[in-house]
Amino acid sequence: DEAIKKSMPFYGKKVMVTAGPTYEAIDPVRFIGNHSSGKMGFALADELARLGADVTLIAGPTAQKSDQNVIRKDVVSAQQMFEACNSVFPETDITVMCAAVADYRPKTVAANKIKKQDSNLILELEKTVDILATLGQAKKADQILVGFALETNDEENYAKGKLEKKNLDLVVLNSLNDKGAGFKSDTNKITIFNRALERTVFEMKSKTDVAKDICSAILKIAK
Ligand code: CTP
Ligand code: CA
Repeated sequence: DEAIKKSMPFYGKKVMVTAGPTYEAIDPVRFIGNHSSGKMGFALADELARLGADVTLIAGPTAQKSDQNVIRKDVVSAQQMFEACNSVFPETDITVMCAAVADYRPKTVAANKIKKQDSNLILELEKTVDILATLGQAKKADQILVGFALETNDEENYAKGKLEKKNLDLVVLNSLNDKGAGFKSDTNKITIFNRALERTVFEMKSKTDVAKDICSAILKIAK
């Protein structure tokens, strides 16, 4: 009932989560994608909803099922994810960008299936919009913005750089060097940096438990 709802930590908070990969079309039958399973973002959306938030999940193509308490908007490309995020963001209190957004897309999408030729095929790629950086610029003082950083090397410096460059409140470092962490796995190992660049290192855990840790870190800085 209402009293129980009001006692929940994220009660009354509008939260946006992005999850999964994006697919960038090459022609009608092919795309450039990545190995993101969407598991981490979906676990986060579920946990935030369980803790009382009004959650909108912007999901790239995945096989994941979302909680019935989560409002879900499915998108395919980085551009579509950008447009969906832009329309939801002004109303949100907390945004967590977990999606593995493509950095590049084919400059032109062939109208017909590209036929195989004797020579090599060269695809020209252009940059997509950095959704998180754009939201970081638009962010109001009472909005919280959380980004992820997926790194294979010099990870802490790159993660801190992303926090500052994209104007984030927290960055969640996901190191692909840790066995059992990353894309397809059911477990993850994260390190969180706050704006003061203070570091919290977490153990390897299930993505559900990692989601709980991220929610606690958000609650610590919640406005
Ligand atoms: N991100 C985004 N839009 C993009 C690319 C990334 O919103 N076009 C977001 C991701 O959702 C993530 C964060 O930016 O929260 C960092 O993504 P990552 O790929 O680690 O970093 P990049 O800034 O893209 O830099 P690079 O891939 O070169 O490390
Ligand atoms: Ca990237």
